[in-house]
Amino acid sequence: MCGIFAYLNYLTPKSRQEVLDLLVTGLKRLEYRGYDSTGVAIDSPDNKNIVMVKRTGKVKVLEEAIQEHFSGGEYSKPVLTHVGIAHTRWATHGVPCERNSHPHRSDDGNGFVVVHNGIITNYNDVKTFLAKRGYEFESDTDTEVFAKLVHHLWKTHPTYSFRELVEQAILQVEGAFAIAVKSKYFPGECVASRRSSPLLVGIKTKTRLATDHIPILYGKDIRPHGQSRELPVLPRSESTSEFMPLEEKEVEYFFASDASAVIEHTNRVIYLEDDDVAAVRDGTLSIHRLKKSLDDPHAREITTLKMEIQQIMKGNYDYFMQKEIFEQPDSVVNTMRGRVRFDGNAIVLGGIKDYIPEIKRCRRLMLIGCGTSYHSAVATRQLLEELTELPVMVELASDFLDRNTPIFRDDVCFFISQSGETADTLMALRYCKQRGALIVGITNTVGSSICRESHCGVHINAGPEIGVASTKAYTSQFISLVMFALVMSEDRLSLQQRRLEILQALSNLADQIRAVLQLDSKVQELAKDLYQHKSLLIMGRGYNFATCLEGALKVKELTYMHSEGIMAGELKHGPLALVDDSMPVLMIVLRDPVYVKCMNALQQVTSRKGCPIIICEEGDEETKAFSSRHLEIPRTVDCLQGILTVIPMQLLSYHIAVLRGCDVDCPRNLAKSVTVE
Ligand code: F6R
Repeated sequence: MCGIFAYLNYLTPKSRQEVLDLLVTGLKRLEYRGYDSTGVAIDSPDNKNIVMVKRTGKVKVLEEAIQEHFSGGEYSKPVLTHVGIAHTRWATHGVPCERNSHPHRSDDGNGFVVVHNGIITNYNDVKTFLAKRGYEFESDTDTEVFAKLVHHLWKTHPTYSFRELVEQAILQVEGAFAIAVKSKYFPGECVASRRSSPLLVGIKTKTRLATDHIPILYGKDIRPHGQSRELPVLPRSESTSEFMPLEEKEVEYFFASDASAVIEHTNRVIYLEDDDVAAVRDGTLSIHRLKKSLDDPHAREITTLKMEIQQIMKGNYDYFMQKEIFEQPDSVVNTMRGRVRFDGNAIVLGGIKDYIPEIKRCRRLMLIGCGTSYHSAVATRQLLEELTELPVMVELASDFLDRNTPIFRDDVCFFISQSGETADTLMALRYCKQRGALIVGITNTVGSSICRESHCGVHINAGPEIGVASTKAYTSQFISLVMFALVMSEDRLSLQQRRLEILQALSNLADQIRAVLQLDSKVQELAKDLYQHKSLLIMGRGYNFATCLEGALKVKELTYMHSEGIMAGELKHGPLALVDDSMPVLMIVLRDPVYVKCMNALQQVTSRKGCPIIICEEGDEETKAFSSRHLEIPRTVDCLQGILTVIPMQLLSYHIAVLRGCDVDCPRNLAKSVTVE
């Protein structure tokens, strides 16, 4: 949650106006991470001060304010070296307002300014400490204490370098965060760090980089963070700042919460690890570690991003979500590309193949995730049970942690996450890892924390998902888990027929998704019937229960209507009381092993005067006869139906949201990457 973007140009002239444009564009790319208020900080035209602009609302509002007050004149003159930092916020401490927007400052003179993502959990202690020393606070945020703490350290230790000051401050704060700091006392320098919140550094040079890794430097005798509340200043780090790990003459650096914000400038990035401190001084980037651990590598790799700028542009679509729904015929193929060989009926999942024998010996499979990612586990559980013949547990990460669920060395735990950064999922991963389980990551974000901390895993390769509501990641997670089930059953003779049936269905899937997307205008008409209602009940069972949960989540988050995914078998145990002639109901009734049971539920609903919208199979006249409103989807194998039935639900929630005037890509109160617990 929250997006950080910082830009530093060294010996590459840019006007402040250009810098502001860059910052605003960076924030727009990160807006999905939080969008209740925004802000930027740059050098003042006389270079003696720092100017900050902050606004409540989305980046557009900030952009307008910048255009009005900070263009032309001095702002159009080129500056050789400059640092700008920017932020888009998802409020955790303090309501969304200008006062609580980032950057936060150390003092009236804007000596140090900070942008921050995450939560500083001991901020009250630090605040009390600083208040006793005369600091006054102007916001309700945890971030402000960090800016003031750096200032306090600077006053007490005037000989410290900028990096050392930030390092000392980081050692005193607890919690999860990513930060970028700028100071008027250290012009042309920027220091950034992370702990359990993502942050990367993009590097742009005129010529090819002389190196593809940055050595890691260590401070001497640095103690673990959070050890003391009395804020003693720790022995000064002895890592040499003269050491020039990445020395390029003309260079631009980008610090960002994720790669989508830097890809239009450079494809060369370094993913920072927890407790890395990245500092740029005299155009030189160095990476320092706060804590030394035995398995630390000696350097941070510079990664070349494969992402294309077009992948994060909206193209001809009105919203990212709409684009991402319509990308699914391609994204599902990308998930299978290079993995499924339809001619030889073989599947290879390169990221886990060496672990398959170990997985086959395990006690049980645990699938853990949040929200939509959790639903992909619900959707594939039955197939996993069938093809692996292992017990399969599906868990919401938050609940799993609340219960202190017993985990054993012979458990295999899957962590499913589009972003790879969801705090609850990441915490659950660490919990299971500590207990010796094998950790398998199923993520869409290369270089994410879940990716890095897993023993092995599958990249779902759905491409960047920008709309806050997850769509194509769901179908790709679904397919990744299906592929895993197929791999696990490769040598089971009794399951070969079933495997062939599924492989055959996978080969037709893209075309069938295209066919379902053709229903768009019909779905739009149905949305017109529904959008003024307060509620929508979505019923189904078996392989389609996950679609009910996922459909209801999409409706809730996008349209702010109440919606509930109901297991049709539970209808008579309570929810049937909700049904009358005015309650909107949608039912999924397909020709699969639970068809007869679904028909019973349909009858229970219609005999209470309910008039459901039915999702059924193409040409199923018997089922269609129960209602005048239906959506017909192509026939596929039972365990893949959920991919075809979820698409009408994605389209329906999208159209209802548009009709209700909701912000489709940025639903209220939400953010794409939930990096707080
Ligand atoms: C809903 C949605 C969320 C996420 C959840 C987990 O449309 O997007 O429910 O699925 O916050 O996020 P990831 O998959 O990034 O771990």
